[in-house]
Amino acid sequence: MGIRFRGWGIGLPDKIVTNDDLSLTLDTSDEWISERTGIRARRIGGTTRSLGADAGRAALRDAGLEPGDIDFLILATTSADRIAPSTAAMIQDDLGMTCPAMDLNAACSGFVYGLRVAQGLTEVGTRRVMLIGSEHLSRWTDWTDRSTAVLFGDGAGATILEYDEAGSDVLSFVLGTDGASADILACEHESTFTMDGREVFRRAVRVVVDSSEKAIAEAGLTPEDIDLVIPHQANVRIIQAVVERLGIPMERAVVTLDRYGNTSSSSIPLAFHAAREEGRIREGAHALLTGFGAGMTWASSVVKWSPGPGVL
Ligand code: COA
Repeated sequence: MGIRFRGWGIGLPDKIVTNDDLSLTLDTSDEWISERTGIRARRIGGTTRSLGADAGRAALRDAGLEPGDIDFLILATTSADRIAPSTAAMIQDDLGMTCPAMDLNAACSGFVYGLRVAQGLTEVGTRRVMLIGSEHLSRWTDWTDRSTAVLFGDGAGATILEYDEAGSDVLSFVLGTDGASADILACEHESTFTMDGREVFRRAVRVVVDSSEKAIAEAGLTPEDIDLVIPHQANVRIIQAVVERLGIPMERAVVTLDRYGNTSSSSIPLAFHAAREEGRIREGAHALLTGFGAGMTWASSVVKWSPGPGVL
């Protein structure tokens, strides 16, 4: 008994903002940003609603499903368009769906948290869950602060999860939250993100490595069995430090932050989509999904791709 991935889809704004574009208004340079983070460009525009609806629509098409086939919508987001109603409710309407819909905020761990909630829902009788990660972080970015403005981007990714009594694509989960670390990365109402970058970096590597090791062991595997690492995309140096400590070659990690920057809840599904476009998703392959973010939260999950419409 478990869940299977059906289709995937993404939603991205058309506008590309390069590091050179940012260096016109900020005291920064392409050299500093790309060396210190790996980021070269990001997409800016849309809303959490519009990008999420685009991703959800694409996932439905990819899975060959109709809006009425979805029984629950979860939107993982840190940048809801309004306090109320939920952005998920707006997307539900845009997609012509009638199922229950709700937002989930676990910051950049939101997509894997959403996967865990989706699995729980299927265990109590929900057949299909649409899980979207969508972010409009540019709205909550201080464009005069070079220490944060160069990092974030907008975008969305979605998948559809389906109950299967015969087995599961999701083999393990390790989730965590440390609310005592709340102040190292935060955004108040009507304000912008503030961050102690070095501290976030240090703690991120620790919690991602720890939760990944546990998730791999819980799946009955060792790091050598992991064919693909699909990490949250915050800084390529964090990804390098994590895979090195796990003993997994860097070639197995998917990196998309060079084109999209840090898109919080959207970064894992956007990275999955890129891996699929590059032909890196193979039947039977094991992938480690792992993220961390404000909270602090962290979430790691090991999945195994089975054949299914729109996935391989
Ligand atoms: N351009 C040029 N210089 C910059 C800069 C920029 N965009 N941002 C910071 N600097 C400067 C600093 O002012 C500092 O200058 P100083 O030495 O004169 O004081 C210097 O670069 C080093 O700053 P530091 O913060 O130590 O750099 P860093 O190597 O730690 O890189 C981050 C900064 C933010 C890229 C890095 O710490 C990071 O990625 N942290 C994790 C952030 C993260 O993952 N956030 C999202 C969580 S989901």
